[in-house]
Amino acid sequence: MKRQISVNLGNLLLSLSEITDLMSPLVSQHQQKTAFIAVEVAKVFGVSPEMLENIFTAALFHDIGAITVEEKIAIHKGGKVNLDVHCIKGEILLSQTPWFQKVAKIVRNHHRNWSDWEDTLANPLVLSSQIVLLADSVERLIRSDRYILHQNGSIIEQIKGIQDSVVAKELVGCFEEIAKREEFWLDLMSPRLYHVLLSQGPYHNVEIDMPGIALIATLFRDIIDFKSRFTATHTSGVSACTEILASLFGLTEVEINSLRVAGNLHDIGKLVIPNRILEKRGKLTRSETAIMKCHTYYTFYVINSIGGLRNIAEWAAYHHEKLDGSGYPFHCQAVEIDTGSRILAVADIFTALAEDRPYRHGMVKDEIYQVLQEEAIQKKIDSHIVELLFDNYAVVNEYVQEKQRTAKKFYTQRFLAVLAECGSQQ
Ligand SMILES: [Fe+2]
Ligand SMILES: [Fe+2]
Ligand SMILES: [Fe+2]
Repeated sequence: MKRQISVNLGNLLLSLSEITDLMSPLVSQHQQKTAFIAVEVAKVFGVSPEMLENIFTAALFHDIGAITVEEKIAIHKGGKVNLDVHCIKGEILLSQTPWFQKVAKIVRNHHRNWSDWEDTLANPLVLSSQIVLLADSVERLIRSDRYILHQNGSIIEQIKGIQDSVVAKELVGCFEEIAKREEFWLDLMSPRLYHVLLSQGPYHNVEIDMPGIALIATLFRDIIDFKSRFTATHTSGVSACTEILASLFGLTEVEINSLRVAGNLHDIGKLVIPNRILEKRGKLTRSETAIMKCHTYYTFYVINSIGGLRNIAEWAAYHHEKLDGSGYPFHCQAVEIDTGSRILAVADIFTALAEDRPYRHGMVKDEIYQVLQEEAIQKKIDSHIVELLFDNYAVVNEYVQEKQRTAKKFYTQRFLAVLAECGSQQ
């Protein structure tokens, strides 16, 4: 049976943006708040509907290039960091998606001061980038430990202090206009901001279908993978392995396409885990393991909150569940774990074992088989899927390797090479 899947674009973008703001209470709702301020300023300035969409999306993802928790906090605190690095990384990642070409340029320029532009606000790129910079500057001045209407006057004064140097005076004027209203500040600080943006944001009535969802999932695949050089091709491998196992199993095209999306998003919850844990050599402590266990919870939370993607959310988030109920974080029983989840779980273990990690080299076929076989005997993973994988080992392995080679090429030739040029290690 063919079932057409479509979701609200605003909800999709907001959910994906939210995951990177869950990294730390210090950056809680940072991108959402920046998007709200940017949209309000843009409306007062009077931009076109298309420009409003681009400004909204750019603001929602403006710090996407700060992939690690550590980087994100350093930028937010205004610490000693090269701000260009996250702007460049954000541009490289976003420009992979054909829809986001203009958004990528805005993100590239979101820390470029007004005095460094040699053009006017008549240039859409200058205008959009300046609006995001203004919104980002306002948001970073907010102190979360003080009531907003006890600090808004001081924020307005501080923003007036950077007009003409950091932000164009005309835009500061637009901001002053909206900042007069208490309603603006109260909406901004509301725990319901997500819903305010969802119902009043530029994409509130735009739906996208499966090819569009798949494109955005691919973008997130790279963001998740490039968080650490040790796992730079992991998601690409899991997604490829899931896809080929699903087709060998005889699932329908609709199911295979949905599983590919689930594969691309299965570790999206890892965006909230600090790299010191992800990249640790050796065994994790009990407290680190407890932190690690939240990643599939957040994978479920973020995909399910998009609405209409329950299957994909389960397939993606159940990859550490075990058929005997001993997995985490849901402790599902075998009846709750369907074929898609079983395939993805085997694909995840297979890919992880074959990869080099900071503490060990990648395993060879026989070693991988032993581990998977052991788990199947203990009734933790599905023995039929394990057999399917090893009956077709050469085809599966070649397909996974090919996808991982492509991902590695992009990572080293585009991502790391550009970063090396601007003197950054990661
Ligand atoms: Fe930034
Ligand atoms: Fe920011
Ligand atoms: Fe995982």
